[in-house]
Amino acid sequence: NTINDYFFYEPAFNTHDGGYVPLEEPNIPEQKLKIPEALKPDKETDTDMYYTVIAEAGESQIMPGQKTKTWGYNQPLLGKTIIFKRGKNIHVTVKNELSELTTYHWHGLNVPGDIDGGCHTPVYPGESKVLNFKCDQPAATLWLHAHPCPSTAEQVWHGLATAVVVKDEHEASLPLPRNYGVDDIPLILQDRKFHEDNQWDYHADYDPDGVQGPTAMINGTVNPYFDVTTQKVRFRILDGANRREWRLHFSDNLSFTQIAGDGSLLEHPVKFTHLMLTCAERAEIVVDFSNYKPGDEVTLYSDDVPIVHFRIHEFAKDDSTLPDKLFKLNAPEITPDTPVHKIIMSGMDEEVAINDKKFNMQRIDSKQTLGSCEIWEITNSNDCDGGMIHPYHMHGCQFQVLSRNGKAPYPNETGLKDTIAVDPNETVKIKVWFDHTGVFMYHCHIIEHEDGGMMAQIEVQDPKKPQKFNLMDMDTL
Ligand code: C2O
Ligand code: CU
Ligand code: CU
Repeated sequence: NTINDYFFYEPAFNTHDGGYVPLEEPNIPEQKLKIPEALKPDKETDTDMYYTVIAEAGESQIMPGQKTKTWGYNQPLLGKTIIFKRGKNIHVTVKNELSELTTYHWHGLNVPGDIDGGCHTPVYPGESKVLNFKCDQPAATLWLHAHPCPSTAEQVWHGLATAVVVKDEHEASLPLPRNYGVDDIPLILQDRKFHEDNQWDYHADYDPDGVQGPTAMINGTVNPYFDVTTQKVRFRILDGANRREWRLHFSDNLSFTQIAGDGSLLEHPVKFTHLMLTCAERAEIVVDFSNYKPGDEVTLYSDDVPIVHFRIHEFAKDDSTLPDKLFKLNAPEITPDTPVHKIIMSGMDEEVAINDKKFNMQRIDSKQTLGSCEIWEITNSNDCDGGMIHPYHMHGCQFQVLSRNGKAPYPNETGLKDTIAVDPNETVKIKVWFDHTGVFMYHCHIIEHEDGGMMAQIEVQDPKKPQKFNLMDMDTL
């Protein structure tokens, strides 16, 4: 059975915002989809991987004519795909060649607070630092983005975002496409407005409910086409937009199979014709093009605007079937005494808050003990009439979705997640545990809401080894 539902509350879709900027079909010729190269490790041994990640400014040919001033990691726009292998010790030298401070936030990575790259770990212009950690989590598509408060949104808009792929032996044992760049393709979905001379102007486009532009940009490409040369292609889709929701569907109502969410494979594959992603969420899907022949074209749409064109070429027949069991989520047990954290995301525009407070770098809002498992109840108190969907994200952990307003989560929420969209008037229960200590942010991932204060932080302590964590202050930055 194929699901053809976006699930969320239609009157709260971003299309109903007063400030909604509809996507427009670009009137430039189709461009070959840019596929970020995999970042080469500086060195790799059986046990360790070494990388250098440089935040830099440059220029990119995105539109015909003038180049656009952009930022990126190891390239002028976005970045190379960073691959971590589970079980290895990772050493990343992060270097800031920008003219302002930035942070390197590993969205979805299970690492201690001082590695996570939230706002307490700035790297100043011209400086670098080495991050050492062990990669120990299931195969997934994560991402790296800037996170300096309160200019996360602006830095991401400039281009500081890139895909991170965790590989593990379990995923490697499954019959899934994984030939990177051929049948395993990241799709970073973003939108921009091109002003005079093809430049971006974050301040001109500013909207406290999230900055949008009318032009879809996929992996930094406007109006992209992709050459399909295998029957099945796996797409690692990331909503890397500041505000935009993507409601994805293909021409001919072609169905596709979602195999992974944010932090792991799904327990079972789920077949869809329609899929909605909110900011920062990921979905890995496998598309089977067997019904097409060379010369055909398949189009991916968001709402009714084409965003990627797939040009079908000759391919070998592929009879492999996707396994029905992909992943087993091993969450710690909860008991009737399990504590419950209540989080209320309220407001819109400048009024956004969490539990009635605006973010304060110097204030710890919650505490949890290392290894303990707690229930978090996340409520969006917006009105059903005129409210919006807030994508709630937690650093430092991957959680399990337990229920939505008391009902079962959606069928593609069976794996680990780090970002969960919450409808107006909805309460989503999740199971949260931390494998590492430190101070971690949690917030709405409409990035202007995050910068606008819809963010709070939790301190995770190991009672056997209490630590004092250094909290930066806006003024000390
Ligand atoms: Cu993707 Cu606090 O971030
Ligand atoms: Cu994050
Ligand atoms: Cu929000």
